[in-house]
Amino acid sequence: MAVKDMDTIVSLCKRRGIIYQASEIYGGVNGCWNYGPLGVEMKNNIKRLWWKDNVYSREDVVGIDSSIIQSPDAWKASGHVDGFSDPMIDCLGCKARHRADHLTKKGRCPMCGGDKFTEPREFNLMFKTQLGAIEDEASTVYLRPETAQGIFLDFKHVQTVSRLKIPFGIAQMGKAFRNEIRPRNFIFRSREFEQFEIEFFVKPGEQGKWMDFWKEERFNWYLKYGVNPEKLRLRAHDEKELAHYADQAYDIEYEYPFGWQELEGIASRTDYDLKKHNDASGKDLKYYDDQTKEHFIPFVVEPSGGIDRTMMTFLIDAYAEEGEGKDKRTVLRLHPRIAPIQIAVFPLQKNEDLVNQAKVIRDDMMRFFNVSFDLSGNIGRRYRRQDEAGTPYCVTIDFDTLEDKAVTIRDRDTMNQERVKIEAVRDYFFERLM
Ligand code: GAP
Repeated sequence: MAVKDMDTIVSLCKRRGIIYQASEIYGGVNGCWNYGPLGVEMKNNIKRLWWKDNVYSREDVVGIDSSIIQSPDAWKASGHVDGFSDPMIDCLGCKARHRADHLTKKGRCPMCGGDKFTEPREFNLMFKTQLGAIEDEASTVYLRPETAQGIFLDFKHVQTVSRLKIPFGIAQMGKAFRNEIRPRNFIFRSREFEQFEIEFFVKPGEQGKWMDFWKEERFNWYLKYGVNPEKLRLRAHDEKELAHYADQAYDIEYEYPFGWQELEGIASRTDYDLKKHNDASGKDLKYYDDQTKEHFIPFVVEPSGGIDRTMMTFLIDAYAEEGEGKDKRTVLRLHPRIAPIQIAVFPLQKNEDLVNQAKVIRDDMMRFFNVSFDLSGNIGRRYRRQDEAGTPYCVTIDFDTLEDKAVTIRDRDTMNQERVKIEAVRDYFFERLM
């Protein structure tokens, strides 16, 4: 059985310390989440794999890590100060605040069922703060609502220092902040989250070809790490939906328990952002093509995904409840490289010889993988704990090990167990986990 509703995932995440509310002991902060020991490992794996596949494996993409706080002039030029807003309404009955475009149930308040609201007014989603010791208008700065603008501001500098020729991309991942009117669906829509984005700079006129490329590339990335193809689709934005800067856009959507929703967007952002920054800063952001001897502002194709949404997608997609009675188990069938722990090592009993032998194997594997060492409870219970954490392999050291120099390796998905010589353990895992 797969995930029925979001509560199943939320409670697993809380129970296992994967993700839970920020400031829980003070009642929580709405739309803010903490990643615990298992959660941070999984999130780091997702980030590492994205970087490996999109930066290390491509000679036409380099990475940066820009400041979260940039000049407020940058957000004025990009249009965020005037236009990065959602329509907000208040229910006149219960005073609950909603996004006008998210009201379902035929315009009724989801909290009290009332149908009387204030007029919609635009609410800017950027968090404001003050820079320095003096609090006035002039010192107002913003927490970035997307990592993309940091890339646009650095475009000329990075292109020059990296001696890159069009087409090329600049990648970045990191925190973004949006004061969402109504955060919801666990980490799907939060107020503090992480993005991975690439701004891919191309010759004007070549954006269609690169949109096709990145749509396919990014869609396949999710399949590569095991997402069920039947729950993933590409959906084109229609004219009305297109952002003001885009001439074409697609969403990669996943079928969540609350319906098909955007996991990642791929947009053809034209030359909108670079042109705005070129004009507002007075700095020349044109690219010089030394073959055609032309100066021009490049067009941009942008694959932009949410790391937290990706994490939630992997968790939902991997979740299964199986078996009956004492054989019942909850298992996360995560891709081995996404799973927070790759190998769990168990001495069968708290016997000194078994523990010492198990530690030798653990110490060797720890050099390459994230390894858990578990001594407590019967072996069945230890397997269940690792299944629920998504650990693909468990290694058990028993009394026979001391004689035959072999261990039992159990596969999370098939639950098959095989006997492997200690000297072959390293190769066994290199073949399956590297
Ligand atoms: N630079 C383009 C951009 O930011 P977006 O569609 O607003 O486009 C890109 O955001 C991705 O960031 C989304 O596909 C989603 O995965 C993630 N995202 C956006 N808002 C989010 C939120 N409030 N909470 C979690 N993830 C969010």
